[in-house]
Amino acid sequence: MIKFEKTTQAFLLSGKNYSYAMYVNRHGLLQNLHYGAKIEENDLDFLARVVGAEDVPAAEDVNKELQYNRLPSECGFFGHGDYREPTVLTVRNDGAAMSRLRYKEHKIYAGVPGRNDNMPCARAVNTATGKSVAQTLAVTLKDESSATEITLYYTVYDDCDVLVRSLEIKNTGEETLDIKRAFSFCFELPHGKYSSLRLRGTWAQERIPEIAPIAHGITKLSTLRGASSHVTNPFVGVLKEGCGEETGECYGAQLIYSGSFCITCESAQDTPLRVQGGVSDFNFSWKLKRGETFVTPQAALCFSGEGLGGMSRAYADFLRLYVINPVFVYAPRPVLVNNWEATYFNFDNEKLFPIIDEAAALGLDTFVLDDGWFGKRNNDMAGLGDWFVNEEKLAGGLDSVINYCKKKGMKFGLWFEPEMVNEDSDLFRAHPEFAAVKPGETPTRGRYQLILDFTNGKVVDYVFKMVSDILKNHDINYVKWDMNRNFSEYYSPALAAEKQGEFSHRYILGVYDLAARLTSAFPDVFFEGCAGGGGRFDAGMLYYFPQIWTSDDTDAYERAKIQWGTSLCYPLSAMSCHVSACPNHQTGRITPFETRGVIASLGATGYELNLACLSEEEKEQAKKQTEQYKRIQNLVLDGDLYRLSSPFDTNYFCQMIVSKDKKNAYVAIECIHAVPVHAQRCVRLTGLAEEKTYYIEELGVKASGKALSGRGIPLPREGEYASCVWHLRACD
Ligand code: DGJ
Repeated sequence: MIKFEKTTQAFLLSGKNYSYAMYVNRHGLLQNLHYGAKIEENDLDFLARVVGAEDVPAAEDVNKELQYNRLPSECGFFGHGDYREPTVLTVRNDGAAMSRLRYKEHKIYAGVPGRNDNMPCARAVNTATGKSVAQTLAVTLKDESSATEITLYYTVYDDCDVLVRSLEIKNTGEETLDIKRAFSFCFELPHGKYSSLRLRGTWAQERIPEIAPIAHGITKLSTLRGASSHVTNPFVGVLKEGCGEETGECYGAQLIYSGSFCITCESAQDTPLRVQGGVSDFNFSWKLKRGETFVTPQAALCFSGEGLGGMSRAYADFLRLYVINPVFVYAPRPVLVNNWEATYFNFDNEKLFPIIDEAAALGLDTFVLDDGWFGKRNNDMAGLGDWFVNEEKLAGGLDSVINYCKKKGMKFGLWFEPEMVNEDSDLFRAHPEFAAVKPGETPTRGRYQLILDFTNGKVVDYVFKMVSDILKNHDINYVKWDMNRNFSEYYSPALAAEKQGEFSHRYILGVYDLAARLTSAFPDVFFEGCAGGGGRFDAGMLYYFPQIWTSDDTDAYERAKIQWGTSLCYPLSAMSCHVSACPNHQTGRITPFETRGVIASLGATGYELNLACLSEEEKEQAKKQTEQYKRIQNLVLDGDLYRLSSPFDTNYFCQMIVSKDKKNAYVAIECIHAVPVHAQRCVRLTGLAEEKTYYIEELGVKASGKALSGRGIPLPREGEYASCVWHLRACD
């Protein structure tokens, strides 16, 4: 709900459990008053006159200057005594870059801001209820020094704890403006002690949580990789002192964006904490001609009064209800087998068919053919870009495998890497100018491949045609869209010199364009995202692809940590999680088949190994895992996650998913190391309904929600990578 109070010129925005307040102070500046727990409309007067006024000298106080530096701003500007980094930075023809933004007008309307590009953005309609409770406030600020207007968008949902922000810069003058920075959001919190939570990593170790005090100066998370990346994630948590897993207050800021980004937290001795971010401004420049606008990606801000767990559940609900494709988000996911780790590039029908036979026998429903089916792709040095089948490998073409799958009652999925090209490919030989390479310079390869210039519409059209031809001519139900290297050449041969600073952002707009065109041309095809594992796991990609390959690391111990970190701001159903072979191909570790299944059950599950090589005992287990998974799949799709025991701090990983009506729950436990002497440790099942009685299937007992959350259940003995699950159902 959004309210505007005329006397104080104050706005109150309220979601399910939070309020956000700001007002236009007597200097015309839009100043933040509150972001946190719910407050009342009646409080606006107090907030504006007491809290806000502290930083704004009274009219009669002529000797006291307004200190911009201390004002909690909604859009930081550069210069005029604000020494913090701005949210937006524009340079005029005369080289001047200062600005001062004052309120011009505002509008409150039902729904979400309209856009005329394919940038992913939060929808107005709630996928579960089919209703729209979204309301948007658009506040336009005018720069007094240049002909620039900035409109800040705030979208509020009554049924959700996420506030969606973005902004639009408009050139209202004659001269061209050079945008040097255009972040999506800025919010400020009262001066105090905060910690930041970030998801750091590398290939095969993505999204490992790291909490550290926010020190004096600028804490910056950013990437220049052209993708949201393995190394960091476009999300930051800001934790108040005392914030824990289920208690205390915290904030989240995540970008609905998949390219190079930057999020900063700026803290100084005498200023509020400024948190802001958006498209990376490193080497960024965007020319805005007269009358043109630049619209930023959206940011999803979250406030939780129930610790990190509350934040994760709020983000999971928001992404499921308002971002991920409504057609697929709550639909049962394909339980699949992927041939990558089973065969790598070395396959033919004879090798694939037994895997399909076994998958059908085990109750799986989809077979996904990974890298290597096209062009002259027998290793990773050739073929990317040639999206036509290699009949030398697959006698009878794709249809031979597709028809075999059909005969076995299975669906078929196919791997593509649409954004890339190998120099050893027909595509590159015909169109070397399609690669994002600076002519005359030796490009840097990554996995022997170059990036296609997706800033160039012709390239996107060309790839669209190749991929659609395959999807049109074959019965394909599932596409895995991979992306296996990061930028090294920040250059488009198709862009004019003064537009090269637009390369990174235009590239990702091209990716979204292709994703939008393919997903709308083939609305029944299920798309999975991937980027060398989890190198582009973000809300932008989730808008198009309901699930993403979480990581190339499927080792049951490492994966538990990766999934733990990922669950901090993404729903379980967004994570593709597979059981793979042992010794694990990435770590060499051996873990029980059962444990691999338990960890893979906490997401969109599947297998990534040669099913035909499993022992009879493993086959029995896989069959059981698949049946059990189908029982709990609705919890994965729609339930609330409670992280009960952390593999980072304890010897147990334990997570529980609870249905929205609290009638069913599923607990998954993995012990990390065996110990010689076991001391009883209990896990408290926080998140159940205290007044209900639950039957725990595996233990054959009943207990009240109160006892289970207050006293807890003893954890199983500590065995090396041992695991167990509990299914709970309410008796009344
Ligand atoms: C990286 C992906 O993460 C893997 O699952 C596999 O698809 C390979 N690429 C194929 O090249």
